[in-house]
Amino acid sequence: MGPKSTFLPLLLLLASPLTLLPQVAGGKCNKEDKRALLSIKSAFHDAYHFASWTNTSACCDWYGVDCDPGVANGRVTGLFVITDSNVTGPIPPAVGDLPFLTSLRFHKLPNLIGNIPSSITRLIHLSVLTLSWNSLSGPIPAFLSQIPSLTIIDLSFNLFSGSIPAELVALPKLLGIDFSRNRLTGSIPAEFGKFPKTSAPNLVLNHNNLSGVIPQELGVPEWEIIDLSRNMFVGDASVLFGAEKSTLQIDLSRNAFEFDLSRVEFPVNLTSLDLNHNKITGSIPAQINQIEPNFFALLNVSYNLLCGKIPVGPITAKFGADAFFHNKCLCGAPLAPC
Ligand SMILES: *[C@@H]1O[C@H](CO)[C@@H](O)[C@H](O)[C@H]1NC(C)=O
Ligand SMILES: *[C@@H]1O[C@H](CO)[C@@H](O)[C@H](O)[C@H]1NC(C)=O
Ligand SMILES: *[C@@H]1O[C@H](CO)[C@@H](O)[C@H](O)[C@H]1NC(C)=O
Ligand SMILES: *[C@@H]1O[C@H](CO)[C@@H](O)[C@H](O)[C@H]1NC(C)=O
Ligand SMILES: *[C@@H]1O[C@H](CO)[C@@H](O)[C@H](O)[C@H]1NC(C)=O
Repeated sequence: MGPKSTFLPLLLLLASPLTLLPQVAGGKCNKEDKRALLSIKSAFHDAYHFASWTNTSACCDWYGVDCDPGVANGRVTGLFVITDSNVTGPIPPAVGDLPFLTSLRFHKLPNLIGNIPSSITRLIHLSVLTLSWNSLSGPIPAFLSQIPSLTIIDLSFNLFSGSIPAELVALPKLLGIDFSRNRLTGSIPAEFGKFPKTSAPNLVLNHNNLSGVIPQELGVPEWEIIDLSRNMFVGDASVLFGAEKSTLQIDLSRNAFEFDLSRVEFPVNLTSLDLNHNKITGSIPAQINQIEPNFFALLNVSYNLLCGKIPVGPITAKFGADAFFHNKCLCGAPLAPC
């Protein structure tokens, strides 16, 4: 034992109250977080949005920066940059240098361009990733599956292209993905059938160029919300139904689905069912009126190839003709008598 090893703990003891003092006194900011944030500011050409991000102030006080006093002595846990067309360029790779980040939001930045940087895989605590209403492009990277803490991935309203990465099924805490309003192609990966049956994430994929058939495997998870509206899907979507499922919302509208609705049973807790503009045949099953009516808000089977009498009951009685019109030979109230 040399003098060094005996003095070191003492020095640390003496030093720690001093180094903690500025943080307690409102001077809160981890040095490394601050360096990463200033690098982000500089990558965005010091846009006015970052005016409060000055070297002389504490980064926990900066606009759009959240720190959690309970996390490693006040590390940066949240970063949001929203609604600003002056923020231009790609997402700075330095976002990966905020290791305690749980929430990252870049929203309504029309001049935010480029790909999602792979450095975000270093954010091993990241729970909410919101990169919505920007001009981001390129593929939805499979490396997102390397961030097991992710619960929400919202990439809606961008220019992402390519297919949906099957690897996302590996994310154990996923509650929802929203990839709506992009330029995605291909179908939904059959691997998504391996999401936990009773806690599958919400799947919001409307307004893309997705195509092909719905893999049979997707009939296993009980999607609470599944929205495939405004794509180019074809074929049979009946696997998504089933009276025993806990599904709440199904939107298949404006695709080219083609299946016999007569053979379908509706989840009894459904609150919203939109099938308009497809090529769905058969008739509306009487079982539709066994859906719990109290919370049921939307039914639309218009613009299909349905036939037969609309079954009478509490669900169908809630809606007017525009929920049923433009079918092949659907009849009975609220349409013309059969
Ligand atoms: C920012 O402040 C640190 C000390 O707080 C100092 O070392 C550094 O030189 C400053 N940087 C700039 C660009 O002023
Ligand atoms: C964007 O920049 C322009 C010109 O510098 C400025 O007038 C405007 O206030 C800025 N907008 C925002 C939201 O910061
Ligand atoms: C979908 O594909 C069609 C033709 O392939 C193209 O014209 C259209 O712009 C695409 N839509 C989107 C949202 O990418
Ligand atoms: C429907 O909701 C009720 C009340 O919340 C619940 O008890 C029941 O298990 C649900 N049924 C299904 C099939 O999820
Ligand atoms: C159903 O969808 C059609 C086509 O978009 C629309 O015209 C109609 O108003 C909708 N009706 C209801 C009840 O949602």
